[in-house]
Amino acid sequence: MNTIEAFLASQLTNLQSKHLLRALKPDSDLVDFSSNDYLGLAHCAELKQLIDEELNKYPDYLIGSTGSRLISGNTNYATELEQWLSAQHNAQAGLLFNSGYDANLGVFSSIPQKGDTIILDEKVHACIIDGARLSYATRYKFMHNDLGSLEQKLKVARGNIFIGIESIYSMDGDSPDLKAMVELAAKYNANIIIDEAHGAGVLGYCGKGLVSELGLESKVFVRIHTFGKAIGSHGAIVLGSTNLRDFLINTARSFIFTTAAPFHSLVAVKMAYHYLNVHPELQKLLRDKIDLFKSKLSSRIQLLESSAPIQSIIVEGNETVVAAAESLKKNGFSVGAVRSPTVEKGKERLRICLHLFNSDEDVARLANEINQNL
Ligand SMILES: Cc1ncc(COP(=O)(O)O)c(C=O)c1O
Repeated sequence: MNTIEAFLASQLTNLQSKHLLRALKPDSDLVDFSSNDYLGLAHCAELKQLIDEELNKYPDYLIGSTGSRLISGNTNYATELEQWLSAQHNAQAGLLFNSGYDANLGVFSSIPQKGDTIILDEKVHACIIDGARLSYATRYKFMHNDLGSLEQKLKVARGNIFIGIESIYSMDGDSPDLKAMVELAAKYNANIIIDEAHGAGVLGYCGKGLVSELGLESKVFVRIHTFGKAIGSHGAIVLGSTNLRDFLINTARSFIFTTAAPFHSLVAVKMAYHYLNVHPELQKLLRDKIDLFKSKLSSRIQLLESSAPIQSIIVEGNETVVAAAESLKKNGFSVGAVRSPTVEKGKERLRICLHLFNSDEDVARLANEINQNL
């Protein structure tokens, strides 16, 4: 084997020996307790019909967007969608990105400058960390959801200060005390950037997110809503001021140097919002499903405190958590095993995602399986 192939092979062997080797899974007919499609919009027949009807209004639509937004890939449809989504979220302006990853990368890498300070909750998603790493600002992290720890960092922060948080944390399923955080941020003239990836579609009236639920739109500097989870499609929008939008168009490399999303993706997002707006009952129904699951679990099970569709059960050790997920798979359930170092050592977990489409029987069967085998 040549040297680079030998290097790759040895790295893979090393990952395998630590039970950390990742592999893509084929299609399966397991019961879905692992995807982010919390509301089932990715396979919703009524939404599909809305999308088809909208596409039919544009018989000449392009399959691909043909270029980046700044060269040839922009359309009035995209610009109008941004304006409409901004109004939906009570924001001055919005800018579409091709994914939540791109949106966070763009925001955190381009806005904070040398001499500024980024303070991140220790549990923020990898794309926020990656974005912050690409900026020249000083970086700190604070203890998860801990206002005291945040204030310690705020006291030593310099320049423009940015606080990076999420509305529902992707691994723990919990939320920050946003009201208190907004007050603390104001005391230090700091700017909150909140990633609503898992709150979109789930929190707030018709799924408009945590900031909207609390009426804090004017107190938060940036909101990032992604479309790949409860919205059932993919892409993201960054919401904030008109200056923010114009600044990102000019400086966010993950916006500038990439082909724009195709027309049908934009249509899918627009119609998903229309669908959510005429089904204000969905968020409550999802909460009922989550409550049902929690009520069926034995009190012995180490469930992390969360009222979100992400319910995590601690199963210590990479090998043990992978074995637990495999055993559930043999019983017909798809459940995520989250290993360290993705989460802290000793906090490895089964990550269970509840969906509106999970039947009550399947929810009870899964809980029963967990009660008996963990
Ligand atoms: C909190 C959070 N932010 C951002 C992302 C990335 O979003 P996308 O999948 O649209 O790139 C994820 C995806 O897992 C996430 O969990």
